[in-house]
Amino acid sequence: MMPLRIFLCAIPSLFFAAGLGAQEPEAIARGKKALETRAFTPGGWSFAAYENAWKQWQPKLDKTPDNYDEAFRAHYGLHAAPFDNGRYPMGLRSGTLLFAKGLATDCMLCHGGSILGNSHIGLGNASLDIQAFFEDLNKASGLSGKLPFTFSNVRGTSEAGAMAVFLHSFRNPDLSLRLERHKWELQDDLCEDVPAWWLLKKKKTMYHTGGADARSVRSIMQFMLTPNNGVTTFEKAELVFKDIQAFILSLEAPKYPFAIDRKLADTGHILFDRKCAQCHGTYGKEWTYPNKVVPLIVVGTDPNRFRGLPVKLGEFYNESWFAKEKPEGYKSFAPLGYQAPPLDGVWATAPSLHNGSVPTLYDVLNSKTRPKLFTRSYRTYEVDYDKVKVGWKVERLQTPPMDGSPHERRKNYDTTQPGRGNQGHTFGDDFTDEQRWAIVEYLKTL
Ligand code: HEC
Ligand code: HEC
Repeated sequence: MMPLRIFLCAIPSLFFAAGLGAQEPEAIARGKKALETRAFTPGGWSFAAYENAWKQWQPKLDKTPDNYDEAFRAHYGLHAAPFDNGRYPMGLRSGTLLFAKGLATDCMLCHGGSILGNSHIGLGNASLDIQAFFEDLNKASGLSGKLPFTFSNVRGTSEAGAMAVFLHSFRNPDLSLRLERHKWELQDDLCEDVPAWWLLKKKKTMYHTGGADARSVRSIMQFMLTPNNGVTTFEKAELVFKDIQAFILSLEAPKYPFAIDRKLADTGHILFDRKCAQCHGTYGKEWTYPNKVVPLIVVGTDPNRFRGLPVKLGEFYNESWFAKEKPEGYKSFAPLGYQAPPLDGVWATAPSLHNGSVPTLYDVLNSKTRPKLFTRSYRTYEVDYDKVKVGWKVERLQTPPMDGSPHERRKNYDTTQPGRGNQGHTFGDDFTDEQRWAIVEYLKTL
């Protein structure tokens, strides 16, 4: 039996190596350039809003902080751009609104991350306080600081699903604007961690529940849905997004930069193949990836992201412009569970699970040691990184601190709160600690 299974498993990897993986170099270069130079949503904030954002910080400051660009990045959890972006961090850039110029956000707000102090396009941003960022820049632009729903309950995660529900609700299927919004139920406690872009090339389905075809270009244009973008803007941008997709599919995971105990990792490799590969695939040149969406009852992790998107949105999406990509169209799928992601570069993508509730790989493998209530620096330097357990260093807290501004309170990850449960994925619980450390060592090599 075994050789046949190995043979069958190898087919998809050969197919993907030649298919989704191989992109034209020109398209990749164009996609990279588009991400680094273009805004796809209007510049709705004034440039002065950036200069003045600090006036919203608590406790109040009496003058602009020194090294303001750096202070701004640290405050909101943004990272220096590894390309020319003026004084702005990844995720923020100059855009236009009607005929005026202003500040706009882009994909790297969430998809521009940092590890060991180095910025990477495509690494999920695990530091971001998107709630404070929008509230403060709105206020500093003279707009209301009140957001239509919660953008984030805890730092490093966002309510991207709720954003999609909200943005689609203004549209008809042909993307024309509605006079009255769809009244779909909007749940803003799904708590989404951002997947690394370099994993997309192995996937047939994407998003945490495997809810969309990974080949869909239009699906990754949903963040352009701000009401000022009309149908023609979407149509014009589709070819650019095809290039952006080519760039995403060209990305490789960064390599673990510290020493690895090869003998221990080899032991871990054997254990991994026995217990984990059935869901997460195998690694190396002849990699395999089964693309499994695992039923909730089997994986047992927090249910909110799985249950929390309205069925009506899926139905609407499937009738809309987004599902009608040429030639055959890509519909969204009703969720069946959570997709077991490929684990390439997993040393760099903490925290773990779809809701970022588990700060290290060791804790993924031992559900009993996971911290229940914790905080971390939200910085990404070597001192912030836990090389032993592999992930972020955290400070465990006994009770949720009630004082401090909402921005301060969002630094505390409370796993008893809705959407933030750290239960489930108990597949490592039966191992001895020795075996767990061996698997952690192996995971560093991926
Ligand atoms: C507000 C933060 C945010 C912004 C901005 C954003 N994304 Fe995402 N993105 C996410 C989150 C969160 C997910 C996971 C969603 C889920 O399944 O719950 C995701 C998922 C994805 C995926 C699928 C990854 C996978 O392996 O499943 C792709 C591709 C992607 N985004 C591309 C883009 C592009 C291109 C842009 C810019 C047009 C963009 N995103 C803007 C937060 C964001
Ligand atoms: C039955 C299928 C299954 C098995 C077996 C399994 N996993 Fe998973 N794993 C999943 C699913 C599904 C997720 C995503 C769960 C979620 O995000 O809620 C996941 C998530 C993870 C993550 C977090 C990835 C991230 O970036 O957030 C790691 C690390 C991981 N698994 C490692 C392992 C290891 C090591 C083993 C073997 C001891 C293992 N898994 C066994 C299905 C499985």
